[in-house]
Amino acid sequence: MKDIIETLRFSQGREFINLSAGNPVILPAVEQLWRECTAELLSSPEYGEVVCRYGSSQGYQPLIEAVVERFNRRYGLQLTERNVLVTPGSQSLYFLAANALGGYSTNGTLKQIVLPLSPDYTGYGGVTLIPEALKAYRPRLDVDESAHRFKYRPDFQQLEIDETTGFVLFSRPCNPTGNVLTDEEVHKIAAIASTHNVPVFVDSAYAPPFPCLNFTQMQPIFGDTIVHCMSLSKAGLPGERVGIAIGPEAIIQALEAFLTNLCLHSSRYGQAIAARAIRSGRLETISETIIRPYYQQKFTVLETALDAAMPADRPWYLHRGEGAIFAWLWLKDLPITDQEFYQRVKEKDVIIVPGSPFFPGLEGDWKHTRECFRISLTASDEALRTAMYRLAEVVTQVYD
Ligand SMILES: Cc1ncc(COP(=O)(O)O)c(C=O)c1O
Repeated sequence: MKDIIETLRFSQGREFINLSAGNPVILPAVEQLWRECTAELLSSPEYGEVVCRYGSSQGYQPLIEAVVERFNRRYGLQLTERNVLVTPGSQSLYFLAANALGGYSTNGTLKQIVLPLSPDYTGYGGVTLIPEALKAYRPRLDVDESAHRFKYRPDFQQLEIDETTGFVLFSRPCNPTGNVLTDEEVHKIAAIASTHNVPVFVDSAYAPPFPCLNFTQMQPIFGDTIVHCMSLSKAGLPGERVGIAIGPEAIIQALEAFLTNLCLHSSRYGQAIAARAIRSGRLETISETIIRPYYQQKFTVLETALDAAMPADRPWYLHRGEGAIFAWLWLKDLPITDQEFYQRVKEKDVIIVPGSPFFPGLEGDWKHTRECFRISLTASDEALRTAMYRLAEVVTQVYD
């Protein structure tokens, strides 16, 4: 990221197509929703209560009530307010969990944070103060050679979850790959974990009901040991830092206590406008009708361009685009490293992200980790097309 930032800052008149961004696009209808919720808040008597007073660590009561009501109605759950915690962004939630449930316990045993399928969100790399607590597992690869597509699957032959596991964590849909673990795979992981009473944190930053960035069928999965972790960032509110966890009361309480020590509570302005957007159902509607179609169409543009431009006789594979705001490209047997390839693409004024930082917690040498790239879907159609053609030229040169 440092190299990307410096490249863009000192670009001296060069126009880069930047496909590294993780920031969501500002979609007019989404911005409008947040403006409306802000206007409603400003003109309500609630305003002073929201910004001029401290609140509870668990979160702003109307937001918690809105979450309980919507999720119980939509998914037939029996949540109470004690099942919900609001955090300052979902990243902080993983930090709380990593240090409350993972790491060394008082008797000296190491409680591991298990990432069942690597690659996964690079942000998990820094969540624990005890780096050796993070353990990721290599996936199985389903490859469709003639279609130039592939998909990662959890490898249940290898996966170990037992009493030494503090908790399990994965993103669904996944940043960086766009993979969506199937409902069956999630149930299977949860079943293994629950036999050892291990919580499973499902990072749902891209999942339904908001921001609904799944392009394939998926059900959010709830249960006695599952913590469903949401973020409002990809629903257009990254600046306000609102994360929401839904889970078993005992875990929510432990995380809440940790949060109190850390920062007392999340900022309340973002929570108050989120309460309005969720309670009214507007956030769910906008997610389904605006946010999801926008990125799904971008993925189609990208894959169509790659299919047209890439050399058919080279082993390139695009991960199935099942969700999130990225595409993930695997260049099998790439003759140079991902970092070198990134530099070669940069010479063509295109920036993509080398894949190797997306394997936090993975032990041992696996050349696949140096053969992958994350491509953001946040650019214009034209920029995406041009970039894919330039990338294909580099692929041809490098393999030749
Ligand atoms: C999979 C995943 N989890 C968590 C986060 C952190 O999001 P937040 O803004 O809620 O802290 C991100 C941000 O990009 C993400 O991609």
